[in-house]
Amino acid sequence: MPLTHNQFVTTEQLAKLRLPLEEACNLPQAAYVSEHIFRQEAEQLFLTHWVNVAHVSQLPKPGDYLCVDIFDYPLLLTRDNNNDIHLMSRACMHKGTLVAEGSGNTKLFVCPFHAWSYGLDGRLKAAPLMDKVKNFDRKNCRLREMRTEIWEGFIFVNISGDAEPLHTQLTGLQKILANWHMADLVPAHEAFYYDQRQNWKINSESFLEAYHHLGAHIKTFQPTYPAANSYPIESTGKYSVLSFGPAQAASATNIDGGMELPFIQTLSEAERLEPMVVFVWPNLLLGIGADQVAYYRLMPTSAESHDLWLNDLMPRNTVEDAKLEQAIRDRVQWARSVHESDDMPVFERCQSGIRSPFYEQGRLSVPYERCLWEFNQWWAERLGERILK
Ligand code: FES
Ligand SMILES: [Fe+2]
Repeated sequence: MPLTHNQFVTTEQLAKLRLPLEEACNLPQAAYVSEHIFRQEAEQLFLTHWVNVAHVSQLPKPGDYLCVDIFDYPLLLTRDNNNDIHLMSRACMHKGTLVAEGSGNTKLFVCPFHAWSYGLDGRLKAAPLMDKVKNFDRKNCRLREMRTEIWEGFIFVNISGDAEPLHTQLTGLQKILANWHMADLVPAHEAFYYDQRQNWKINSESFLEAYHHLGAHIKTFQPTYPAANSYPIESTGKYSVLSFGPAQAASATNIDGGMELPFIQTLSEAERLEPMVVFVWPNLLLGIGADQVAYYRLMPTSAESHDLWLNDLMPRNTVEDAKLEQAIRDRVQWARSVHESDDMPVFERCQSGIRSPFYEQGRLSVPYERCLWEFNQWWAERLGERILK
């Protein structure tokens, strides 16, 4: 019996997950515990793809900035005086010191080591006592800018710089979600942060199936949105969209089964009735409802941990309506408790079971875990032979 965890996937395990959906199995143990695979995922799934770093509403005013870490890349997100958004490395061009931490509003980033200073667009503004240095051109010196795209208000970075444009990848998703006008939604609160002690895929996989309504959400989602009514709308190798199916109770047209907030006015009747969960691979998770969009952003921190930020995006009219203050508070608390009381305990138990030497790849529910199967194929294709011994 092995006493250490598998660091690699065997060809037999890989073959099991690559079978057609009706015959396929889940990912093997190494996918959830191996630091070798964690590093391969960082390179092949995150750094070479588009990764969500923030929502535009987190930088409402010129001068606002926000630090974001993507694996070993400390980044700085700013809004300049022309209202343009910049995303750059925050390692100083003199000796690498991080020129900012946290978030705030500023005109200038002054490096704490030798006081080089940078503007909101990353250009070097001043470098003291550098005038006798040969061939040092201050004007051409700037914090390294990253390739970014803003899609529906979500800011993405592609660190490798060579991914297919994000808008092209998300054309189909754009059509499905057009009526939500997500770029106009604003957060109802400060993001809630969680240091999740399990592999990032256990969390993201829960946005690929509503099968777990039968267990984790038996009291919350299952009565209104039974697992058996869920169905995949689209799954493309870049993202997936899963519908919960129409609400079962006549009054329960909100995702939480009844707490009334105004609907997003541009939605059709059918769109109001069927919540969806969306996963833009690899790190943006959205719960699409009639009156709000739940926004989950995750970043893996090790094979068995990830950072998670939760927010609730709502129409500005809703968030600014004083009469709705209590209803919004109730909704946000409800959404938080679904994560903390329903999902988190099963995620933790799942990780503990997967770590067991007795864990074996189990079978998938057909067709309810189709999106999960699609994601597993993408995972295996992208990682290729790097995960094999
Ligand atoms: S490291 Fe930034 S000024 Fe020296
Ligand atoms: Fe869940």
